[in-house]
Amino acid sequence: MHDAMKRSPVHPVPSEITPGAVVRQRRLLIQGAAAVAALAALPAPAQAPHPGKLSVLPGVKSTVPGALSMDKPTPYADATSYNNFYEFGTDKSDPAAHAGTLKTRPWTVVVEGEVRKPGTWDIESLLKLSAMEERIYRLRCVEGWSMVIPWVGYSLAELIRKVEPTGNARFVQFVTLADRAQMPGLRSPVLDWPYVEGLRLDEAMHPLTLLAFGMYGQVLPNQNGAPLRLVVPWKYGFKSGKSIVKIRFVDKQPRTSWEAAAPREYGFYSNVNPQVDHPRWSQATERRIGEDGLFARKRPTLMFNGYEPQVGQLYAGMDLKRQF
Ligand code: MTE
Repeated sequence: MHDAMKRSPVHPVPSEITPGAVVRQRRLLIQGAAAVAALAALPAPAQAPHPGKLSVLPGVKSTVPGALSMDKPTPYADATSYNNFYEFGTDKSDPAAHAGTLKTRPWTVVVEGEVRKPGTWDIESLLKLSAMEERIYRLRCVEGWSMVIPWVGYSLAELIRKVEPTGNARFVQFVTLADRAQMPGLRSPVLDWPYVEGLRLDEAMHPLTLLAFGMYGQVLPNQNGAPLRLVVPWKYGFKSGKSIVKIRFVDKQPRTSWEAAAPREYGFYSNVNPQVDHPRWSQATERRIGEDGLFARKRPTLMFNGYEPQVGQLYAGMDLKRQF
């Protein structure tokens, strides 16, 4: 975000969706009942180039509707070197350069607040809680760029069901690690640490909301939010908190870091919405990372990042210009 605040967003022309992806999507649609078989036949996503470096974490192809984007995955090198993780600095290259100091074991996640079963989960028990799935999601940053990443994880709903929210639980707050010894970015007051995010309970329970432990068939690299993060594919990237240490169930809309930092610019909902401009730039188009170059055309941004069929009903009756 900082990046876009500093530079005026000068972007090239919008582009069309990859013709190959469109063709494959149409083919799937007409195959109807054969769709499941067709999905199994899809080429495996781009594999990580350093198979020995991080432990493998395979996932079975997800059957959650909308969970397998047909778009070409972003090259691993781009997805792991162009990041926002302000705890390690505000430049896109800072997380890859500095997150090596993050210790991801031992790691625990505290679940507290309006739940019948509060407690502390260690990362090993979270890894075993449910079957790992591969989900190919687009991630669209509010700054106007996007990526396509084969994540590995399971629906956050699996964990939520286990901890049994009470009738008072209406929202979920996600608190991420803030450790000055490991995170040089905390010396800067750019955000009010720890980085916190929030969702309405029904958003958190939506099957597309992913608790991710890996990407490209391996555990998450530190710069992408190891050892676990959220991925909410229909919202701007900043709703997808990295390196989560606490999940708190609450009755009132919780504070979120970006809303606290700039309330006019970043609302609580932060659904990808090309019709609501950021106060300082348009949100109508996006640049796909890995498709750079002088003649690379920008893509039109889709409502709810293209996940409208799956999540549109969550916002029925809401004024999305006011509740942005
Ligand atoms: N989580 C934490 N803890 N700190 C951050 O600075 N940045 C957010 C989000 N999660 C951020 C975070 C933003 S602005 C984006 S766009 C995504 O992470 C980027 O995820 P990626 O680097 O894996 O693409």
